[in-house]
Amino acid sequence: MKDQLLAKFGELFGGTDGAKVYFAPGRVNLIGEHTDYNGGHVFPCALTIGTYGVARKRNDKKLRFYSMNFEQLGVLESSVENLKPEKEADWTNYPKGVMWAFGEKGMKVEQGMDLVLFGNIPNGSGLSSSASVEVVTGVALRDLFGYDDISMIDIALFGQYSENNFNGVNCGIMDQFAIAMGKKDQAIFLDTSDLSYTYAPIKLADEKIVIACSNKKRGLGDSKYNERRAECEEALAELQTKLDIKALGELSEEEFEANKDLIKSEVRQRRAKHAVYENQRTLKAVDALKAGNLEEFGKLMNASHVSLRDDYEVTGIELDTLVENAWEQEGVIGSRMTGAGFGGCTVSIVKTDCVDKFIENVGKAYLEKIGYAADFYVVEIGDGGRVLA
Ligand code: GLA
Repeated sequence: MKDQLLAKFGELFGGTDGAKVYFAPGRVNLIGEHTDYNGGHVFPCALTIGTYGVARKRNDKKLRFYSMNFEQLGVLESSVENLKPEKEADWTNYPKGVMWAFGEKGMKVEQGMDLVLFGNIPNGSGLSSSASVEVVTGVALRDLFGYDDISMIDIALFGQYSENNFNGVNCGIMDQFAIAMGKKDQAIFLDTSDLSYTYAPIKLADEKIVIACSNKKRGLGDSKYNERRAECEEALAELQTKLDIKALGELSEEEFEANKDLIKSEVRQRRAKHAVYENQRTLKAVDALKAGNLEEFGKLMNASHVSLRDDYEVTGIELDTLVENAWEQEGVIGSRMTGAGFGGCTVSIVKTDCVDKFIENVGKAYLEKIGYAADFYVVEIGDGGRVLA
């Protein structure tokens, strides 16, 4: 991959002298969905697939960006002066947003750069291709412009800041954090209320992590995402009329049940219920995993999907079809949607010797019901964003 990318860079931008190669992975969240903007816990891991970037500093103010995933767009040019989101800038709004965020944090990038990207994460799939682009850009900026004192967590925070304030999606910190901080064969148990975290080894002796991509494009997903977030904020404000809490993630199931009537709409009650119960499920799931009880972990994954389907209402027929068919297959430990929802992917833990049958059966059922095919990926857990060479 690196060689093809360097060759493209050389062809477009006049040789590769001084150019460097960077990588940031995609991520999959095992459990803890829609909890990261509610002060709850998440349990994602970085993947070995992701975004490769080749970048080089320029001596003027120009930005020249090219993606091998969107070759039809050609080289998209802009400038480090007056960075703002523009429709015609297309995917380059992500790297531009990160440069803008660096500026907002007191590290204004004064010189331009040339950048070529290639990602092997399916776009819009819910495996965080955009956060991956943000983190690879952050790693490149830190390296090229000598911002040596910023940490990988800072890079994650700048990515989130750019997504929230430049690209208009009010996302939490999970994706950028997992992508920046990932570790091979480990999931990250992150408390989003204070960003404390630990790594938990994912020891799958006889099982694989299988991702099924629904191929349903998110479409209205981003606005629905912001809507869910607003519903949770309103429910929290209603609970705060009596409870001294800063986030839904502080509540146990019992505390929620005892106070839920403070929330004046049935819909908001269900949204808040999901946030509270999902956070508690995540704590239980991590305990189960630590105790070597994969069975229990899988059951909690399934319960997470049910809650996202019925209470949070972010699944849709495509994800439900994938998951509900997965549950019926032999050798399935657990299966759920992963990421924001409204399309995107599911994650399943499947006995290794059942994976082929699983893909065949779930794929067939999906095609029959939905009318187009899903794609399946058996993934490995990899390291976070880094300089490659
Ligand atoms: C998206 C967001 C994350 C998180 C998930 C849902 O991936 O970017 O911050 O909220 O949805 O868990």
